[in-house]
This record gives sequence, C-alpha cells and structure tokens, in this order.
Amino acid sequence: MSITVAVARPIFPEVLERLRQHFTVVDNQEGKPWEAQAWAASLRHCDGVLTTMADTLNAQVLAGNTRLKVAANMAVGYNNFNLAELTALGVLATNTPDVLTQTTADMGFALLMACARRITESEQYLRAGLWRAWRYDFFAGAEVHGSTLGILGMGRIGQAVARRAHHGFDMQVLYNNRSPLPAETERALGASFVSRHELLERSDHVMLVLPYSPEMHHTIGQAEIARMKPGSHLINIARGGLVDEDALADALERGHLGGAALDVFENEPSVNPRLLAQQRMVMTPHTASSSLKTRLAMANLAADNLIDYFLKGSAKTPLNAAALKRVGE
Ligand code: GLV
Repeated sequence: MSITVAVARPIFPEVLERLRQHFTVVDNQEGKPWEAQAWAASLRHCDGVLTTMADTLNAQVLAGNTRLKVAANMAVGYNNFNLAELTALGVLATNTPDVLTQTTADMGFALLMACARRITESEQYLRAGLWRAWRYDFFAGAEVHGSTLGILGMGRIGQAVARRAHHGFDMQVLYNNRSPLPAETERALGASFVSRHELLERSDHVMLVLPYSPEMHHTIGQAEIARMKPGSHLINIARGGLVDEDALADALERGHLGGAALDVFENEPSVNPRLLAQQRMVMTPHTASSSLKTRLAMANLAADNLIDYFLKGSAKTPLNAAALKRVGE
C-alpha cells in the first residue's frame, strides 16, 4: 500500500512536489477550512500529515485513528498538538526549530520599534491626510536604544532578540526563564536573570517569547500589567493565549501602558475589537517568521521530517523520539 500524506493548508508548490515524489498526497491548496470532523475522517486514511500551528491534533481529532504515524508541524511552537496523546498513540511529532530563529527575532525587534516609536499610528495619520504642520511633540514615543528590555522566555528566539538589543541598541537586557543561562552566555548577551516581578517592574519594554501551554494561559493578566512601568510597552511574538487581551485593553484605555505590539492573538484569526480600537496597538497577523526564505525553509524541514521518517526511519527535529519505534510497522 502506498504511503498517504495529508497537507493541511496551502503550501509552496515545490514542497508539495517533493512530497509527491514519495507519497500519495492529499493536499488542501484551495485552503478550505478543515473543520474538525472532516479533518479527523480524512486523517484516518493517512500515514502522515503536514500541519501548521492552526491545525489541531488533539484526542478528539485522533480518536479511532490507527493509521497515522507522523505529524510534521510547520512551526516551532506545537501547542496545537496534544503531544501526550500523540505519543500514547505512537505518532511521531516534529516541529521546525532553528530555521526561523533569526527571522522571528527580527520581527520581535521590528514590533518593539514600531510600538515604541509609534510608527503604524503615525503612518495611519499621514495616510489619512491629517498631517498639516510640524509639532515639537508630534508622535513623540519612547527611546529604544539605551532602554531596558525584559524578555520572558530565553530560548533560541529570546536569545536572538537579546543579542540584537545588547549589541545593536546598547539596551540593558533582563530575562526570566525556567532556568538561568550559563554565565558565559549571559555575558555574551549582556543579559541578567531576574524574577518575573522584577522584570515587569524594571523594563521599559517587555517581550514574550515563551512556549504556550494551558498552565501558561493569561500569564500576563491584570496583576502583571499593573506591575509594568507606566508608559512601558508589551510585545508578544509567542502565542496569543499568554496575554489576557481584555486586561491589556483596560491598561491601554487607562493610559497605563505606552503601547503594545501583538503578532499573535487569543482567537486567531479574530481580533478582540477592543484592541482594534486602540491607536497605541501595533498588530500583525501571526507573521513573525514570514520571510519567503524562512517560510520555505520551514516547509522544507517539515517535508524532510515526513520523508526521512518513511524512507529512513528517522526525523531531523523530533518532539517525541520515543514514537520513532513504530517505523516499519
Ligand atoms: C509560529 O508561530 C511558530 O511557532 O513557528
């Protein structure tokens, strides 16, 4: 029986072609919404699947699926996977780390600068034809160079952001993470480990680069935002569920924060209307890794994982290597 692989979303045609050289491919190039039941039913006839972070693989979708062996996520984050369930079923899960680190850190910095320097807000003003004269305080924002950046989550992307902040912008970098980095790495990044409270209280800009899990839901809520310095900025390039968006909207309405920049939202692709109404918000549609080169590298890495799994019994970036034992069944 030939190997069948589903591709959940539209993808680069050349990557689809690579997959077609090895597998029967069920593709979704039209981008049809794959609602849960149809998704679950079609996956029962597939040996592998290429997903994006918007495609859920949980117990409900996987129920009764005895055929699926590998799920390759085209994202570094994998909170769309129930990893315990996949492992219990012997399904190998993979993600796409490393290839997107620098591009995502670039975007974190772009969002930080856009909100501190009020770039989208002033551009909207200009485009609306409202610019009449120069004023001394025209869209006066906050300093980026020499300011203090707090990074919550100091994995690969957090460290790439810290490197930019320290070496490029002479910023003081504070961070909080499950565990501190080795002293040598801290020195190279000019970064100091502090408690979450201290980070929130001392930073001019707070950036979230944390993995999301249900325990981390609303890790930035009313109490945490209240701790942030008046006039400071919140930037989220991780997952929307980390931030209580209503608490953020409250803080922006009250003028407690100088602004916020979000690439990720609680209910993507819907955006909380209270945030849309805020001028001091910079918002992008989950595009932090979206340079053409990086997205192609991510798609190719996800495809490599599927090809390596079925052809060589290995995977480049496994999340639950224990599931590799099913190869050859
Ligand atoms: C995107 O959000 C990713 O996790 O790669």
